[in-house]
Amino acid sequence: MVRVSGTEGYGKTADALVEQYEGLTFEHVHRSTLSLLPTPTARALDIGAGTGRDAAALAARGYTVVASEPTAEMRANGQRLHATAAIEWNDDGLPDLAMVRARHAPFDLVMMTAVWMHLDAEQRMRAMPVVASLLRTDGVMTMSLRHGPVPEGRRMFDVSADETSALALGYGLTTLHRSQRTSVTLAVGVTWDILAFRKV
Ligand SMILES: C[S@@+](CC[C@H](N)C(=O)[O-])C[C@H]1O[C@@H](n2cnc3c(N)ncnc32)[C@H](O)[C@@H]1O
Repeated sequence: MVRVSGTEGYGKTADALVEQYEGLTFEHVHRSTLSLLPTPTARALDIGAGTGRDAAALAARGYTVVASEPTAEMRANGQRLHATAAIEWNDDGLPDLAMVRARHAPFDLVMMTAVWMHLDAEQRMRAMPVVASLLRTDGVMTMSLRHGPVPEGRRMFDVSADETSALALGYGLTTLHRSQRTSVTLAVGVTWDILAFRKV
């Protein structure tokens, strides 16, 4: 199986990650940016949706939700765990998101939670105009960037909030929110940048 770049390590550990990812709540993970989200029934895209925790929470809040997850094992878990949630799942990934662009855009909300740092510099340059083009004017994009030790088998880069904000601005995405926090799972040495952008 050809793996989408950035997904390394997730297939083998997908079952073990269910407890960790589903043990967090949408409200807690996104507490810094909740007030910035558009109102339901806005159209939302969760890129790198993992086990579907956030996609399911968005669907329960009344959003129309598309979830994009290129790791088959993660996607299968998400579809099983949230079988009753109104989520349209796609086997699609960054930097191109060709299927999502062709079938589902535009969106009022794009979420990339713990995903962007899986892309290398060249892929980030390619992906930013793509995600910006998926958003409607006034649409919001949220993102988190992980810093710290890289889990075994994963492909991850230390991507700064400064770089990300500057890159986003070049495609009409202004920074609405920026903060830092320690790991909610208390992983040693792990910190996060939390970012939100609006398309102008
Ligand atoms: C740390 S997990 C986060 C999952 C979910 N967003 C959450 O917050 O629980 C990162 C996810 O990004 C996905 N991923 C990795 N590379 C990707 C890429 N190039 N495009 C889209 N998703 C990717 C992985 O398969 C994995 O499910």
